[in-house]
Amino acid sequence: MKVQVMKTIRINKYLAESGIASRRKSEEFILQGRVTVNGKVVKDLSAKIDPYNDVVYVDDVKLKTKEKVYFLLNKPKGVITSTADEKKRMTVVDLIDTREKIFPVGRLDYNTTGLLILTNDGDFANRLAHPSNKIERVYIAKLNKDLKESDKLKLLNGIYIDKRRSRFTKISFVEENNFSLVKVVTVEGRNHFVKNMFSNLGYRVKELERESFGKFTTKGLSPGSYKILKKSEVEKLIK
Ligand code: URA
Repeated sequence: MKVQVMKTIRINKYLAESGIASRRKSEEFILQGRVTVNGKVVKDLSAKIDPYNDVVYVDDVKLKTKEKVYFLLNKPKGVITSTADEKKRMTVVDLIDTREKIFPVGRLDYNTTGLLILTNDGDFANRLAHPSNKIERVYIAKLNKDLKESDKLKLLNGIYIDKRRSRFTKISFVEENNFSLVKVVTVEGRNHFVKNMFSNLGYRVKELERESFGKFTTKGLSPGSYKILKKSEVEKLIK
């Protein structure tokens, strides 16, 4: 699914939001031919600006392009992975202190904890979600019963979920002599993937945590806290 983000805004709004002038005054500047976009004079009041990429000048003053921001959140339980909720439940966006319009990349279920990336960069989110990106996700799942060796092999060899052959690439046990606490690795980003894999073989996932996503981990972040990522760091996730 493509992430829809508003990418362009009208030039007079863009000028007004940059703080250079009121919207009416900005229109005057545009009509007077004092505004350039990527080196070209723009006199059309209905022209659209990409606030993240276009270079806009009024006379010789360069207006600031918008920053793309990236956050790595350790999602706690009982928070919805969405930008808004009609039932007024807390969302992952509520946990992050920013004025930018951010959204989560992918989703974790209401009671799943762990690593979630949020950004205002729609292109990045779409590139990350592309199936050619085989990014490893590591989950810790607490099952309602011990995982049988025969089922472990089935999950590694592949079973059918939604008519698609689906598998975990690695499975290990977190603690010695505890066969219901399982670490699984997958490159799948489908919703409810881990729970569906286990329920297909008659197991219920009682608790689920995403420990890592590519090279990112939640290490050092308590549930509900987050850190800011650099664009250069997140770009490395995409091949
Ligand atoms: N798989 C699931 O079943 N749930 C999640 O929240 C994430 C992956």
